[in-house]
Amino acid sequence: MRVAILGVGTVGNEVANILIENEKLITARAGVKIEPVIGVVRDLSKKRSAKIPLSDDINSVINRDDIDVFVELMGGVEKPYEIVSEILKRKKAVVTANKALLAYHRYELENLAGSTPFGYEASVAGGIPIIKALREGLSANKIEKIIGILNGTSNYILTNMMQKNENFEDALKKAQELGYAEADPTFDIGGFDAAHKLLILASIAYGAQGRPEDILIKGIDRISKEDIYFAHEFEYVIKLLAIAKRIDESRVELRVHPALIPQNAMLSKVGGAMNGVSVFGDCMSESMFYGPGAGGRATASAVISDLIDIARGNKSPILGYKKELENDFVISPMSEIRTKYYLRIRVKDEKGVLAKITNILSENNLSIDSFLQKPKQKTEECVTLFFTTHTSLEADVKRAMGELDAQEFIIQRPFMIRIEE
Ligand SMILES: NC(=O)c1ccc[n+]([C@@H]2O[C@H](COP(=O)([O-])OP(=O)(O)OC[C@H]3O[C@@H](n4cnc5c(N)ncnc54)[C@H](OP(=O)(O)O)[C@@H]3O)[C@@H](O)[C@H]2O)c1
Repeated sequence: MRVAILGVGTVGNEVANILIENEKLITARAGVKIEPVIGVVRDLSKKRSAKIPLSDDINSVINRDDIDVFVELMGGVEKPYEIVSEILKRKKAVVTANKALLAYHRYELENLAGSTPFGYEASVAGGIPIIKALREGLSANKIEKIIGILNGTSNYILTNMMQKNENFEDALKKAQELGYAEADPTFDIGGFDAAHKLLILASIAYGAQGRPEDILIKGIDRISKEDIYFAHEFEYVIKLLAIAKRIDESRVELRVHPALIPQNAMLSKVGGAMNGVSVFGDCMSESMFYGPGAGGRATASAVISDLIDIARGNKSPILGYKKELENDFVISPMSEIRTKYYLRIRVKDEKGVLAKITNILSENNLSIDSFLQKPKQKTEECVTLFFTTHTSLEADVKRAMGELDAQEFIIQRPFMIRIEE
């Protein structure tokens, strides 16, 4: 099977290397030799370890008749969409690791592919075979929920804040120095990368058709050292979670945000730059997957597993099921989310403030589960109060936060983190 690698960067370079290094083993597993015959790059003068011929003329490569599978590893959204569409129109198989492409165009590409193989295992959680697990291993189950730590950069930052008592800015700087975070880290710490991956998983589990704009996406940039500390006092840890939760037979909640999870939950043990995904199904209860979510070799491992599947002639419906036989779920509005909440409220240290706060919370249907106050420093004229609530409606919490923010005793915009138990 002859393969063209479109993009020989971090991942593409390793795809070529592993196909060459493990050729004998991969041939034995695939049943045929999988040969990387050409790579496409922008800059031919860059040094790369992959020992394959290179071209900077993508159009001539995608029109070659002697290629059986095209592996798209360029990144971006519209350019790869154009390229992959062209290839699929020619009925040639495609493998991609591009979650952004799929977050926006997975249904168009599925339609275009028809029965032509289209693999994307590497697009979610790098080295963890979560697409295969959901689409095949767990296919008997009604999926109740999927909860994932899908962004290694954010998890690395939160782990460092927790274990080394660093503030957000220092932990981010360290992540950048170590190459875990980009110079512009917005995509990772803002929750967008995790949201792209969540949408892909939600298509397989629920046929949910949304785009990133349709779901709640919050990042970790407002998490403070105090939040980490007081979450611990309430017996939680803070993680950036991607959550897909079935509400009923036709609605699913999709959201990405920092969340307090119980210290004894399995996902709370997923530290550093690692990823973890828990899937809850009606037949098998909980199944958890753990591993490296990124990195050249781990991601290449997933890309090559798709190539081996294609060589073997394995065929699963691209997004998990035949659409005409199953209802698609719609994404439930964000205001209808129901969960518990952690609130951080910084106020002037004045008599009666606590009573005013609890009044506002109760007028907005929020009932307090627990309360802590940070001991005041001698020089301070304000105090920080921390609450957790019983299960509440997101719309009520938002309204209460707005009302609190308007009070003259508030020193800093009140902050909330959702709790996921
Ligand atoms: N890196 C990871 O850990 C990881 C994990 C999971 C998924 N992914 C996904 O995998 C894909 C590739 O990521 P990466 O980290 O390998 O990216 P990368 O290191 O930036 O490599 C991109 C490659 O594509 C080439 N390229 C970009 N635009 C091109 C164009 N218009 N024409 C021809 N070549 C072009 C680049 O050429 P030059 O080398 O000449 O610049 C480079 O070789 C992305 O979609 C990413 O989201 C990456």
